[in-house]
Amino acid sequence: MGVPGSCSYGGFTFGVEALDSLIGSSLMPGSTILLSGHPGSGKTTLALTLCYANALKGYPCLYASFYEDKAKLYTLASRLGLNLEGLESENLFAFVKLPVTISVGDILESINSMIRDGGFKVIVLDSVTVLLEGARESERAYALNYFYNISNIVGGIVILVAEAPYEYKTPMPGGLEFIADIVLALKYKVERGLIDRLLEIRKARGSPINLAEIPFTITEGAGLRLWPPPLLEEIMEEHEETITVPCSQLARALSPKTGKLRKSETILIAYPPDARHIYAGVIPVMIILANELKTLVVGYKYSERVYKYLIDELVRLVLGEDPPMEALIDKYFKIKSVNPFSISLGQLSAFELEMLEGGFDAVVFHGVDVPMLAFNVKEYVPALYNQKTYIKSKGVINFRMFSVVDEKLYRVNATLSDVVLRLKLKEGGSREPLYEVYAWRRGFKPQILSEENLLECVKEASTRVRPRW
Ligand SMILES: Nc1ncnc2c1ncn2[C@@H]1O[C@H](COP(=O)(O)OP(=O)(O)OP(=O)(O)O)[C@@H](O)[C@H]1O
Ligand SMILES: [Mg+2]
Repeated sequence: MGVPGSCSYGGFTFGVEALDSLIGSSLMPGSTILLSGHPGSGKTTLALTLCYANALKGYPCLYASFYEDKAKLYTLASRLGLNLEGLESENLFAFVKLPVTISVGDILESINSMIRDGGFKVIVLDSVTVLLEGARESERAYALNYFYNISNIVGGIVILVAEAPYEYKTPMPGGLEFIADIVLALKYKVERGLIDRLLEIRKARGSPINLAEIPFTITEGAGLRLWPPPLLEEIMEEHEETITVPCSQLARALSPKTGKLRKSETILIAYPPDARHIYAGVIPVMIILANELKTLVVGYKYSERVYKYLIDELVRLVLGEDPPMEALIDKYFKIKSVNPFSISLGQLSAFELEMLEGGFDAVVFHGVDVPMLAFNVKEYVPALYNQKTYIKSKGVINFRMFSVVDEKLYRVNATLSDVVLRLKLKEGGSREPLYEVYAWRRGFKPQILSEENLLECVKEASTRVRPRW
């Protein structure tokens, strides 16, 4: 969940960081927010998030629902990381279940008396659809007028939840979109049978809207989070902090001028898919150990157990001795295996960024050819670009390990990288050495190293690298 406390006018918050920064200026005392969407799109989750975050800031919230029963709602909330009981005991949260059988007038009257007695500043009605659908024309106009005025009367915000048809482009029926100051439509796309959640900012009075549709996720414990692509202006300058390459030849090849990498760079390590050289993996591992980088390994090819075994081998190659491997690997490497075929692109991108939150210095994506094969390149490239930008803005060095399954995909990866290291099989037969190594850094001429150079490099590193554990 976004951190409550992020700023918006009048002190109210969406409880979702990205919404506060994008349209926070539309949220002020007297605002009406409409959350629309089809079943299961996340309306209740977002309404609860708004309610909870504002209650935490001291604005008591009333959650009125026709559907949910209290125990179920509290359980749903606690699984999202929202402790409603705690707030209720401090009189900052109240839940009321509204009967569907009484008239619109009586319902509005009962909401009114609760507001009067409870001093609520945030009111959620989940959902207005039930109320409006059963109402006569005149009652409907009365109800809309009531909703329109209620936020002003309490000097707070009102959140109206409405059910929408699956694919809707025109405004919601009943004039709801017209009376609301902010309209957020929650949707999902089904991609390869998997869910991709999207939040559309349909309207936000007083805020420029440049970004209409934003991917979001709902996760156990973390709740609802938005993943807007970083704006170009937000891309941070290169990080000052440098990273040492622990052998001189490779250092010069990867960075002819300084011999160092920077913490915000993307390094592509490519190799033939049918001749994956162990040194492709040694390179990031020796850099990680030499600089004592806390590293997230995201692997698309093997299980976490297999990755652990491989890292163990690579660390032994670099350190050339028998250090206490478990402890060392646990200290520097966190491994996460992901099957990109089991997850939509939107969810995969969000999941990867979420994993990166653990305060890492480096990330290694292993087998990036797999997600590139799983998704349509036209859709994958924007996701990759945004991911790279986000990682860069966090000051995390980004290693991408790629089997060259396709020259075109290799070029796509290379163009999004600051440094490229490609192991290639030499032309003409099976005599050792088999490989040559193509090294290039943005702004410099490419260089060619030999396989022996790499061997010497690892030898040199093994005398220099002594990470603590
Ligand atoms: N703890 C959780 N972990 C992961 N996903 C969750 C969790 N809780 C809810 N979800 C997901 O969030 C989705 C949206 O739930 P929510 O109840 O907010 O939707 P809704 O739009 O209010 O649905 P309805 O129209 O049925 O009221 C659920 O379908 C579920 O997939
Ligand atoms: Mg709901």
